[in-house]
Amino acid sequence: MALRAGRHDRVARAISECRRPARFPRAQPELFINFLTHPGDMVVDIFAGSNTTGEAAGGLGRKWIAVESELDYAIGSAFRFMQDWPDDECAEFVDRCRKRSQDRRSNAASSDDA
Ligand SMILES: C[S@@+](CC[C@H](N)C(=O)[O-])C[C@H]1O[C@@H](n2cnc3c(N)ncnc32)[C@H](O)[C@@H]1O
Repeated sequence: MALRAGRHDRVARAISECRRPARFPRAQPELFINFLTHPGDMVVDIFAGSNTTGEAAGGLGRKWIAVESELDYAIGSAFRFMQDWPDDECAEFVDRCRKRSQDRRSNAASSDDA
C-alpha cells in the first residue's frame, strides 16, 4: 500500500487531533529494519508514538505490531493507514476509540472498587 504522510497530518489537524511531536524520519527505522530483518518478519515497536516504524516496516514488506500508551497518539498514527477514508468517517472512528477507552477505564475503576 502506498502511504502519504500528508494525509496523517491533514486529517489529524482537521479533527483537532493530537499529533505526536518529535517524530523521527522514516529513513531511520528503514535502516534498522533492512539491516536486522527479512521481508515477512515481524517488527514490534512497544513505544510507537506516531508509528513511523510500523509504516516503514509495512513499506518494506514486514508485518508489524505497534503499542502506544497515549490514546491520541495511537489514533493519530492510525490515520497513516486511513488515507482514503472520508473525514467524517475518520471523526466517527476517533469518537468510537475514545468511547471504548472511556468504557474500559470505567470498567477497570468498577472492578477496582469491588
Ligand atoms: C520517543 S516516542 C516514539 C516516537 C515514534 N518513534 C515516532 O516516530 O513517533 C515514545 C512513545 O512511547 C510512548 N510510551 C511511553 N511509555 C509507554 C508504555 N509504557 N507503553 C506504551 N507506550 C509508551 C509515549 O507515549 C511516546 O509516544
